[in-house]
Amino acid sequence: MSNYAIILAAGKGTRMKSDLPKVLHKVAGITMLEHVFRSVSAIEPVKNVTVIGHKAELVQEVLEGQSDFVLQSEQLGTGHAVMMAEPVLGDLQGHTLVIAGDTPLITGESLANLIQFHISHKNVATILTAEAVNPFGYGRVVRNKHNEVTKIVEQKDASDFEQQIKEINTGTYVFDNKRLFEALKNINTNNAQGEYYLTDVIGIFREAGEKVGAYILKDYDESLGVNDRVALATAEAVMRRRINEKHMVNGVSFVNPEATYIDIDVEIGAEAVLEANVVLKGQTTIGERTVLTNGTRVVNSTIAEDVVISNSDIEDATIAAGVTVGPYAHIRPGSSLAEQVHIGNFVEVKSSTIGKGTKAGHLTYLGNAEVGEAVNFGAGTILANYDGQNKFTTTIGNDVFVGSNSTIVAPLTIGDNAVLAAGSTLTQDVPTDAIAIARGRQENKEGYATRFPYHPKNK
Ligand code: UD1
Ligand code: MG
Repeated sequence: MSNYAIILAAGKGTRMKSDLPKVLHKVAGITMLEHVFRSVSAIEPVKNVTVIGHKAELVQEVLEGQSDFVLQSEQLGTGHAVMMAEPVLGDLQGHTLVIAGDTPLITGESLANLIQFHISHKNVATILTAEAVNPFGYGRVVRNKHNEVTKIVEQKDASDFEQQIKEINTGTYVFDNKRLFEALKNINTNNAQGEYYLTDVIGIFREAGEKVGAYILKDYDESLGVNDRVALATAEAVMRRRINEKHMVNGVSFVNPEATYIDIDVEIGAEAVLEANVVLKGQTTIGERTVLTNGTRVVNSTIAEDVVISNSDIEDATIAAGVTVGPYAHIRPGSSLAEQVHIGNFVEVKSSTIGKGTKAGHLTYLGNAEVGEAVNFGAGTILANYDGQNKFTTTIGNDVFVGSNSTIVAPLTIGDNAVLAAGSTLTQDVPTDAIAIARGRQENKEGYATRFPYHPKNK
């Protein structure tokens, strides 16, 4: 029999106090909805239906092309949300996983176990549950004296006795598909929140004498339903621990894993070392043996092996093997550093290609440049690439020596082996092998210093 999946993602998430629909809040760099979708893929559903409503277009964009969508134009409760999927799934034979879009920590492995459990117990409905230390806010799983599940009761509807129950509903279930949609016809809004509760179908099945079960999660952490930003931060912390442990198992060293922040899709080679307060975001790859010191932040960048980046910011850049960057450097979008490049302190590189072995050690700005190999930039070099309206390119050959405090006004081309005198402001091209000097000539006025009242002779 086939598997189907319904992801509930129509709610606003009032308790988040946010303009963004709740399921679009991110954990470790991707939305909660994508986390749920990735886990769901472990059961290989032949059809995946996402229920959207509040800011539907925004939510749909995230899973566009990967899921079917049904609209719940008014959010009348989780049961009502599932009903919206009936036109797509109602006639099909199979097992349907229903999962809330706000439970980003549930793993694919647990979902696969849940569905196996459901099938082997021949249940009509199986609830994924967990034993909570503090069950407040969750639906409670009510069992009879034979330990059989009889119903789920929501926090706001629970009696004092029921509130003592520690077993919670995670908001994830597997149902016999056809029986699910039949049972939904019998739910109503007679409850504390005046909503159609999906959870009510459990009691309906039981009363009809059908087999209902619960699969208890081994790891309670997975059950977290994110309803507010406190839970969002908890989800982030749990996910961070999982991600960092995966990398440690793969041979990456962390000086302080609690304070190292790595998005879920980042890849890191073995023997890399990450110091505290390193942040790796988006589609980032870090090569083997590369060292990132404290405070380094890398976004959507590819960094090769044996690189050292000290306390620097890298974004949308490519960095080749053996490069050293920082401390306090800023490598901005569109930059590519070839092997053995050295970018030192207070250097900014933007939209520039820097050739092998080139060095810019101090206080330099390289923007919109094509720089050759083994160039040396003296301290305080500025590529003046902007006239207030347009950006212009500077092209620099191989083995060029740029004296300190030079300003190169683009567009400009500097030939191989050229030498630029310190303090020059260059506005013309420099040919290969030339020396360019573009500064006022020095004049020494002998003895003039003695005229100043503060000269030692006059004191
Ligand atoms: C729900 C369960 C509760 C469970 C908890 C687990 C019900 C009635 N309660 O409560 O037993 O312990 O999840 O986290 O199901 N949604 C819609 N349309 C709606 C309402 C909600 O699509 O009309 C979506 C939301 O976007 C969300 C999910 O359903 O992704 C769950 O809704 P939420 O309001 O968070 O339910 P809880 O109060 O957490
Ligand atoms: Mg919830």
